[in-house]
Parts: sequence; C-alpha cells; structure tokens
Amino acid sequence: MTNRIRKPYIAGNWKMNLDRAHSLDLIKTIKGRLGDGGDREVAVFVPAIYLADVTAVAQGSPLGVGGQNLWFEGVGAFTGEVSPRMLREVGADRVLIGHSERRHIFRELDEWMGRKVRAALDCDLLPIYCIGETLDERKGNKTERTLKKQLESGFEKVRPEDSHRLTVAYEPVWAIGTGETATAEQVAQAHRTIRKWLVQRVGEEAANQVRILYGGSVKPDNAKELMAIDCVDGLLVGGASLQAETFLPIIEYNLR
Ligand code: PGA
Repeated sequence: MTNRIRKPYIAGNWKMNLDRAHSLDLIKTIKGRLGDGGDREVAVFVPAIYLADVTAVAQGSPLGVGGQNLWFEGVGAFTGEVSPRMLREVGADRVLIGHSERRHIFRELDEWMGRKVRAALDCDLLPIYCIGETLDERKGNKTERTLKKQLESGFEKVRPEDSHRLTVAYEPVWAIGTGETATAEQVAQAHRTIRKWLVQRVGEEAANQVRILYGGSVKPDNAKELMAIDCVDGLLVGGASLQAETFLPIIEYNLR
C-alpha cells in the first residue's frame, strides 16, 4: 500500500497554454473548490508574466502558485530571465526546476541545476526538481543512470536540513504530452531508485521528507491508480491541468 507519511501533492503545470483571462478563471474555480488544504497540497505553475495576477486571486487560500523556471543569479545581464527574488516579489512561493522542456527545447545544462535548486531554496521558494529519461535512454537501459546523474546535479548544493522543502518529479520524457503513461511497474521502479538515492545522499530521516511526484500524461482516469503506486507522493499534471473539468477530478483523485 502507498506510504502516506508525506502529504499528497498535486501540481498543475500550465506551461505557455492559457491566456490571462483563462488563467484567472481557472484559479478562481480551483480556489472555490479547495477546502482548507489540510489533507493535500495543491499548486499551479504559471507563466511568469501572470504570476502577480494569479497569486492575487489565490491569496487567502492554501493554493500554491509557482514559476516555471528561474535563473540562479540574483541580478545582472541575463536577458529574458527571471531571478528567484523577482518570482517572490510577484507572489510565487515555489518554482519548477529542470523541466524536460527546459532541458530539451531550451538546452538547459545539468551543471546549472544544483545552482538553480540552491538559489530557489535561498530565496524561500519551494522547488520541484524535474528529472526523467528519454525514450532512447530507456531503450538503451540507461534509465537509472540518467536519473542518478540528474539527481547528482540537482542536489549538488542541497543540505539534509533542506529536505522538507524539496520535491522531485519523475517525468519520463516519452510520457510528457504524448498520452502515453508509464506503467505502474516503470513508475514504481523509477521512484524506488530515486528514494534509494535520496537515502544515500541525505540519510533516511531527511530523505523521508522529500516528496516524489509522477508526471507524464496524468489524466482523471489514471490519477487514482498512479497515486496508489508505492512511493508516489503526488502528481505533476500538464495538459489535464488546463481545465477545471479535468484538473479537479485529479486533485480529488481519492474522493470519487
Ligand atoms: P502532460 O505534461 O501531463 O501534458 O504530459 C506533464 C508535464 O510536462 O509536467
């Protein structure tokens, strides 16, 4: 059975999909449906330009609102980037780091990940550090090696006492936006690898505080099943987080 010593965490990644009006509509609907947030954590990751508006609506609710990326320097000549402090200033309390689209479309380097995670923590932003193998890596039996390499870089500057503020998202690249979900066994195996690595890196007590989410074609009809997999503490949802009709049933995966 699933280990529920960690609070379930359901996160929506809106990517570059919703305009301002749709973003505000959706956040109002989610806020209206969310209870006191005591039994689960819910957050949405929003384009930086709408963060101020979305956080203003979310205020007073337990809903988390985060950025989709950051640059690790505090200030300087970095055209097009946003600093951790800028995210805080517009109300974000968390941030995605190393999302597959950042790594693959925008060629973000492994070497940056540790500094990004550190910069987020130092600015009181809760990072979700995203990792996952490509189809070629899976076919070449390199899944475990890839995950460990990505963990090494992301956790380079992490201290055991940071653990309660950290979340890892396992998102196989081949399952993102494809409609293809990893099998329960593939998810369980990857999550076990990640947890084992965490225990070795920060010790069992600290590792037990880190939540590990699954992401990749999560839908209302597979959310409950995915959440029942041992070691899955939550879900990172892309496409299905864009509409209340699909995101709410995922948030309420165990209530139906
Ligand atoms: P998806 O995206 O749910 O549309 O597959 C997941 C993600 O990219 O985080």
